[in-house]
Amino acid sequence: MNSDDLRYELTLLRDLGFTHLDIRQPAATPSATDDARSADNRQRGEAAELLAGLKAIAVVCEKCKLSKSRTQVVYGEGNPNADLMFIGEAPGRDEDLKGEPFVGRAGQLLTDIIKAMKLTRDDVYIANVVKCRPPENRNPEPDELEACHPYIQRQVEIIQPRVIVTLGRFALQSLTGKTYGISSARGQWLDYNGVKVMPTYHPAYLLRTPSAKKDVWADMKKVIAELGGESGT
Ligand code: URA
Ligand code: SF4
Repeated sequence: MNSDDLRYELTLLRDLGFTHLDIRQPAATPSATDDARSADNRQRGEAAELLAGLKAIAVVCEKCKLSKSRTQVVYGEGNPNADLMFIGEAPGRDEDLKGEPFVGRAGQLLTDIIKAMKLTRDDVYIANVVKCRPPENRNPEPDELEACHPYIQRQVEIIQPRVIVTLGRFALQSLTGKTYGISSARGQWLDYNGVKVMPTYHPAYLLRTPSAKKDVWADMKKVIAELGGESGT
């Protein structure tokens, strides 16, 4: 491990709450060295390894109260070098039991959307801003969103997608740290640390409101165009 890699790992541990580590190097500030390291990681195909290292920390995480009620942590899955990342809210019952994101009814709808884009779940990366199921599927609370944020931040840094699609209000607000309203924000490109973000509705909302599917499809067409693929019509 060279010093850049070491600094990266130490910064990660600090962000995850290991407060006894004292990191005085300017590792938290993105630098030319960090950019070079990121490019290098990608070239060497190290994203999978970095994601696995972070997962090992996440699966035993007890940073917030959701650790007490979860069955298992739902870390995220997909292509470690994906151009496209979908970010949802928090696991539901099916995900909590299976340990995989978006495998229930809303997940089936997301899978259908991905297929309509002429992609598969293995082409993209799917994760949530909160990794453990809130009891009775209640909304995630501010302390939980804050405690879990370093994980999604690192996942994005490691994967370096070209486009992120946020699903629903909590994903958008937690990722960007801003309080957008979802119906006014959806369909408009935003930026997250240099990555283009397309906010859209959550598939669970589409299950209740099928008339909104056309809006999501309009948003996905913009994503397809940005990625330079076929329109999928
Ligand atoms: N809803 C989400 O936001 N994420 C999941 O993984 C499942 C349902
Ligand atoms: Fe840790 Fe996130 Fe689970 Fe809370 S929700 S225990 S921060 S992994």
